[in-house]
Amino acid sequence: MELPELVCVFLLAACCHCRRAVGVPGEAEQPAPEVLEVEVGSTALLKCGPARSQDSLSLDWFSVHKEKPTLIYRVRQGQGQSEPGEYQHRLSLQDKGATLALAHVTPHDERIFLCQGKRPRSQEHRIQLQVYKAPEEPSIQVNTLGISVNSEEPEEVATCVGRNGYPVPQVTWYKNRLPLKEEKNRVHIQSSQIVESSGLYTLQSILKARLVKEDKDAQFYCELSYRLPSGNHMKESREVTVPVFYPAEKLWVEVVPTGMLKEGDHVEIRCLADGNPPPHFIISKQNPSTMEMEEKATDHDGLLVLEPARKEHSGLYECQGLDLDTTVSLMDQQELLVNYVSDVRVSPTTPESHEGSSLTLTCEAESNQALEFLWLREKTGKVLEKGPVLLLHNLKREAAGGYLCMASVPSVPGLNSTQLVNVAIYGSPWMASKERKLWVKENEVMRLSCEASGHPRPTISWSVNGTAHEQDKDPQSVLSTLNVLVTPDLLETGAECVASNPLGRNSTVIRLELVNLTTLPPDSTATTGLSTSTASPHARANSTSAEKKLPEPESKGVVIVAVIVCILVLAVLGAVLYFFYKKGKLPCGRSGKQEITLPPLRKSEIVVEVKSDKLPEEMGLLQGSNGDKRAPGDQGEKYIDLRH
Ligand SMILES: *[C@@H]1O[C@H](CO)[C@@H](O)[C@H](O)[C@H]1NC(C)=O
Ligand SMILES: *[C@@H]1O[C@H](CO)[C@@H](O)[C@H](O)[C@H]1NC(C)=O
Ligand SMILES: *[C@@H]1O[C@H](CO)[C@@H](O)[C@H](O)[C@H]1NC(C)=O
Ligand SMILES: *[C@@H]1O[C@H](CO)[C@@H](O)[C@H](O)[C@H]1NC(C)=O
Ligand SMILES: *[C@@H]1O[C@H](CO)[C@@H](O)[C@H](O)[C@H]1NC(C)=O
Repeated sequence: MELPELVCVFLLAACCHCRRAVGVPGEAEQPAPEVLEVEVGSTALLKCGPARSQDSLSLDWFSVHKEKPTLIYRVRQGQGQSEPGEYQHRLSLQDKGATLALAHVTPHDERIFLCQGKRPRSQEHRIQLQVYKAPEEPSIQVNTLGISVNSEEPEEVATCVGRNGYPVPQVTWYKNRLPLKEEKNRVHIQSSQIVESSGLYTLQSILKARLVKEDKDAQFYCELSYRLPSGNHMKESREVTVPVFYPAEKLWVEVVPTGMLKEGDHVEIRCLADGNPPPHFIISKQNPSTMEMEEKATDHDGLLVLEPARKEHSGLYECQGLDLDTTVSLMDQQELLVNYVSDVRVSPTTPESHEGSSLTLTCEAESNQALEFLWLREKTGKVLEKGPVLLLHNLKREAAGGYLCMASVPSVPGLNSTQLVNVAIYGSPWMASKERKLWVKENEVMRLSCEASGHPRPTISWSVNGTAHEQDKDPQSVLSTLNVLVTPDLLETGAECVASNPLGRNSTVIRLELVNLTTLPPDSTATTGLSTSTASPHARANSTSAEKKLPEPESKGVVIVAVIVCILVLAVLGAVLYFFYKKGKLPCGRSGKQEITLPPLRKSEIVVEVKSDKLPEEMGLLQGSNGDKRAPGDQGEKYIDLRH
């Protein structure tokens, strides 16, 4: 059924061809096919001519491949039907049968589609489908090995790849945003493409060029230009630079920091050359005595570090660079000057004088630059004089001590050097501190110190036995330290420190006082009430002297016992009160009277009395801990005894 139709169309087409080829007059030439542009993946809408309202109801669609039409779809009374074959599942009718929709267009669909009405004499209509696909972002790969400017022929600069475009995109190479053109023996652009199984093209383009030194920072990139139904477009790769190797033409020495150098600075002498890679450097320094250049060992090629710089580092430095490729040797020299101030001297070196007289101090120093002098008081840092000479009139004792001469170079900021000199004024010893008090604990070893000054420097002796240690603080003063055991005798007498020199003697006394341990903080009386009053006034008044005779651990024991007693007293008091309460009423007789008649401090003794009456075993515990068998009633004395 279909075959005759097809043959018919074929014959018709062939007939038209022969007619056109022959150029028979009166017959219209076959019109050029209508062009339909679509993007890959989209749907192509094939319309069978501009106005075929009625004809559209019955017509056949063909796809033409290699001049051979193949029936792919037929429309009868507005109803469509696919023919078996490659288009079977992608075709559908739209627009009441006037439009044939081809879905999921691929590059393989780029061909002519033909429609033919079923009416006799109806014209065929040809549609050329043109398919487009934008390539992916171009990737660029630079030649990381680099290019030498000495290369005789173009070398690979970079490779550009644009994947999956249709049709093949155009590639343009750029250097510094200017397009590169093919140039004989200078610039070569080799482009090739491969067809992917999808029918899309992947383009690869290699840029080869001969480069010059100035190209070391040149930015290369490729650009893909392509067409879409919407118009012309392009995509650019990122920019790359290629390493360019070129021989050094210049070599120079650089010194950091620039400007005036001084001793102590961190100085770097650096060899630099304009070649890539840099040549191998050798740094030498002229020997000032032999005038010969001597090679310096360096950690890094072309870098000599002077840390800290010294005046001996001054001199002529030379840098040599040898290009291993071209064997060209380059050289540069630079004079280095390390400014210095040294050898600051003061005369006289050990100035000494009597009170009321005068002294002249003169300062000198060595430097390669003009110097300025400044005199300062060491202790205060106060500036006394500008200039090398310091005059001291009408000397007082206080004028003794350190003086600084600072020699500085005004032209080199921060360059200075100082010398300390000590002025001695003849005089008898002075004590650094007057009589003092020290808080001590008995039986511990204390360090006592005593400082005295005078000229000649005094010596120190102590009134007590102990191990003394003397230390010279400055040429006129001495510090003596003495380690002593705190004994009752020492507490009584204190320690006297005596300083003497040929001009006299002076002394100071250090008094030792025991630190209180037994007395409870006074404010606790209010809160704990009766209990604290067990520490009787006698005990307090005598506490210092009592402690003097008591060894340390026992006095602690006393505190503990006192606290225990207080707690017991409270407990017993509570028990007693409860007992009387239980009996019906509180007694107002004997104890009540006593409370009124006795002074408040005796009251506590009575409380303790009660306790000792009622609980003899606890009293025994108290006594047992001290080995004391005093009568329980004499509480005040008992506490004094406890301390013995
Ligand atoms: C003296 O030199 C030191 C460094 O050695 C610097 O810190 C100081 O500022 C200098 N003083 C003067 C007055 O130049
Ligand atoms: C002993 O030294 C003091 C200063 O601590 C001083 O005031 C006193 O004059 C000196 N005594 C003698 C005799 O130098
Ligand atoms: C110092 O110790 C000696 C014995 O070592 C003694 O004779 C002298 O009295 C002691 N002096 C003083 C001040 O304690
Ligand atoms: C030691 O106790 C006495 C009398 O209780 C007092 O006057 C003195 O200030 C106390 N000293 C110290 C260091 O607590
Ligand atoms: C020590 O206490 C007794 C009474 O026990 C008293 O006579 C003496 O004056 C007191 N001593 C001092 C230094 O308070």
